[in-house]
Amino acid sequence: MRYQSPVSRRDFIRLSATGALLSHPGRLLAQEPLPTRRIPATGEEIPIVGFGSTKAVLEIPEEGIEAIDNVIRMLLQYGGRVVDTSPRPEEVDRPFGSVLQDPDLRDRLFIAAKIYVEGEQNGIDQMRQNQRLFGRQTLDLVQVESLRDLETHWPNLRAWKDSGEARYIGATVFLDQDHEALEAFMRRESPDFVHLNYSVAETRAEQRLLPLAQERGMAALINRPFMNGTFFQAVANRPLPEWAAEFDCETWAQFSLKYLLAHPAVTCVLTETTNPLHMEENIAAGLGRLPDEATRRRMREVIGQL
Ligand SMILES: NC(=O)c1ccc[n+]([C@@H]2O[C@H](COP(=O)([O-])OP(=O)(O)OC[C@H]3O[C@@H](n4cnc5c(N)ncnc54)[C@H](OP(=O)(O)O)[C@@H]3O)[C@@H](O)[C@H]2O)c1
Repeated sequence: MRYQSPVSRRDFIRLSATGALLSHPGRLLAQEPLPTRRIPATGEEIPIVGFGSTKAVLEIPEEGIEAIDNVIRMLLQYGGRVVDTSPRPEEVDRPFGSVLQDPDLRDRLFIAAKIYVEGEQNGIDQMRQNQRLFGRQTLDLVQVESLRDLETHWPNLRAWKDSGEARYIGATVFLDQDHEALEAFMRRESPDFVHLNYSVAETRAEQRLLPLAQERGMAALINRPFMNGTFFQAVANRPLPEWAAEFDCETWAQFSLKYLLAHPAVTCVLTETTNPLHMEENIAAGLGRLPDEATRRRMREVIGQL
């Protein structure tokens, strides 16, 4: 399986329309499905690379839904399912929800939704809006985003799990400074999922949170695998080490993703993109070999020198 540089997102849309993309060299040659990992709470398996929708959803007012639709279709093509969402104003989440409700996609997705607001009633209203706009009475995962007003919302998340409106529940952070608060929550409660920041250049999660998730039987979703894109600025114009080929890594994006996927506590890495071919490149990181511990140390050294 080889991966080559992607065409741009606009080219993707143009080439898709003409059918020319089918023969583009950027396509993966093997149609291997993404591997899956177990959610400890139930044993259900989910694919190890998912889609973080933030950037694509925020661009809907200017760009429409075409990019998001293409990215999700690319994910599904390789057996991916996990789509992470965050509550947005109705004028944005309504068109996004229309993609999530497309009959071709609807029942194949694992939708992770969030509550991100102060106050109990506001949290309930956000849950109802997620259900209404995403067209689902049952959401696969409901998370308290960035621990915001966690103590207020958590009893309601537990009630939604009991009533079958949330299949799994959890909480998220995206900053190292919130790890201690997430750790205290993980010791106090029993979320099915934790969702946290981790990248080859931002490895604090390895110290306490990931081992604790393993010990306590919690699935781990990862955000910021590319530090919201700053990772690519750091590695720009630098050659990928030749030894990356030893674990089937062909690009810097895959270098970061394979580092994360090699951690045994990681269940699924979310990658945010507006470009379906970046999605495909990121999916390819989930295929083939992963680095062993000695290689991961070497990878950290390479990134530490930048
Ligand atoms: N508190 C929370 O719950 C929280 C906070 C932050 C993030 N998240 C979740 O995590 C997801 C990931 O977000 P993030 O902010 O951490 O972003 P990220 O995935 O670390 O980086 C996204 C950036 O990388 C670029 N990119 C993606 N794949 C690429 C590739 N193969 N080659 C080159 N560039 C590539 C994207 O641009 P292109 O569009 O050009 O591909 C985008 O600018 C979010 O969407 C969200 O679901 C959750």
